[in-house]
Amino acid sequence: MKGFLEEASAAARSAGALQKERLWSDVAISFKGEGEVDLVTEVDRGCEELIVARLKKAFPEHAFLAEENVYEKRDVPYKWIIDPLDGTTNYAHGYPWFCVSIGLEYEGEVVLGVIYHCMMDELFTAWKGGGAYLNGNPIRVSGREPLKRSLLATGFPYDRTRTNENNFLNFFNFQLAARAIRRAGAAALDLAYVAAGRLDGYWECKLKPWDVAAGSLLVAEAGGTVTNHAGLPYSVYDHRIVASNGVIHREMLDVLKPAEEG
Ligand code: IPD
Ligand code: CA
Ligand code: CA
Repeated sequence: MKGFLEEASAAARSAGALQKERLWSDVAISFKGEGEVDLVTEVDRGCEELIVARLKKAFPEHAFLAEENVYEKRDVPYKWIIDPLDGTTNYAHGYPWFCVSIGLEYEGEVVLGVIYHCMMDELFTAWKGGGAYLNGNPIRVSGREPLKRSLLATGFPYDRTRTNENNFLNFFNFQLAARAIRRAGAAALDLAYVAAGRLDGYWECKLKPWDVAAGSLLVAEAGGTVTNHAGLPYSVYDHRIVASNGVIHREMLDVLKPAEEG
């Protein structure tokens, strides 16, 4: 695991350096899908190229699933799951809240996660059964309860104007039930912050494996709980996630229930 972790950390740091260097410069932006909502910048693509090139060189036999490009499908046990820049809307607007997220799956299970937040120089790492770390120091979820004293985070899907699964009712209900909610714009960092005890819980819907692979492992390895909205064991291919410090998890599921049923 050490070799995987070193390579993934170095790849995340080099992409983070590019993000920092190009932030607040004239970055070319284009759009995915309708409505000028889902953005992609040349920095997203540049970061993905850097990360994939480095990992492919180190592990030529591995498979890759990354947000901005399609890579050859391979029937091998190791698969890297990469979000080269999580928080693209923030990045494109010069709002300095974004990160790199790299997960490694072995036989369908995430076994390693690295999230790098270059603006704070914070590297979050975790491996299956090995705990969760921030810049090499162990981290743990908070012990805060109940929900009414908790700080939560969430996000909204890009197609929110065209679908009923837009998270609006959940957001409304949690606003009444929790102390406060943040929508900072980078799912991977939301998860890393739950792992570090800076947030007590997080939920979202319509996420992709690259948004959550590293972060969901971080929360679990930091002693938290990660499930889908029905409270069942979470898979990164499941698009509805709830991650918490564990002690408020039941209360969070109870708040989510009416919206899921409605
Ligand atoms: C997005 C961010 C955002 C979340 C969206 C994601 P991107 O990822 O993580 O916080 O609410 O659902 O798609 O597009 O910036 O990589
Ligand atoms: Ca993302
Ligand atoms: Ca992204």
